[in-house]
Amino acid sequence: MKSFHTVQRSTAEEVALAARDWFVEHANQAIVQRGRCLVALSGGSTPKRLYELLAELDEGTIDWSKVHLFWGDERDVPLDHIDSNYRMVRQALLDRLKNSKPIVHRIPTGDQPPDRAAREYELRMREFARGAPFHFDIVLLGLGDDAHTASLFPETLALTITDRWVVANQVEKLSTTRLTLTAPILNAALNVAFLVCGSSKQWAIDKVRGKTDHPTLYPAQLIQPVGELWWFLDASIKV
Ligand code: 6PG
Repeated sequence: MKSFHTVQRSTAEEVALAARDWFVEHANQAIVQRGRCLVALSGGSTPKRLYELLAELDEGTIDWSKVHLFWGDERDVPLDHIDSNYRMVRQALLDRLKNSKPIVHRIPTGDQPPDRAAREYELRMREFARGAPFHFDIVLLGLGDDAHTASLFPETLALTITDRWVVANQVEKLSTTRLTLTAPILNAALNVAFLVCGSSKQWAIDKVRGKTDHPTLYPAQLIQPVGELWWFLDASIKV
């Protein structure tokens, strides 16, 4: 594991507050330096509070009109389905932003086969990049109890794919297909932050940050960005 920063706070709320301040700093840095900020959002439950806090920022703290929101992964469900990561972000952030709104690049699930949705999303990303390298300024990630991140689950095909940015990944243990960004595009990011709370993540943290290199079993080990890697942890996790 390359060098990384660890920010530990007492509670999940304080983790979300620290991550909010980190997000604001790096979003504004990107906007100043590159005129825009490209973000890959995490799904799951942990980042929801961060998204709510971002929605509550004073007007003008971030010029959202310069922020492009992508998703790091999505479930193969319609955008209004209770399991949709897009729906979670819409409720926690998008619907609550009053004035300037981000440019939203939703993974087009729900009305086409997952493989076609993945290919369409990747095409949109490549068109957006206009042939230039695609570097997310900010990637937010969670960590599953089994050391998965995004929808890069242990012993799944997506872990081995290096020539695609977005794939439909069959996850046998969940009996479902998930859409996920792959390690190469995530690792091209300039700033990556894991938000991890709860003692249930201890095993995964120990494996991912431990000495045994086994990304097939501990997929979050694949995340070694060209930029900076940050871990935001609550106090229930011992590191
Ligand atoms: C998802 C996420 C997934 C999540 C982890 C942790 O779509 O669910 O991308 O990787 O980040 O499973 O989830 P929690 O934050 O809910 O523990």
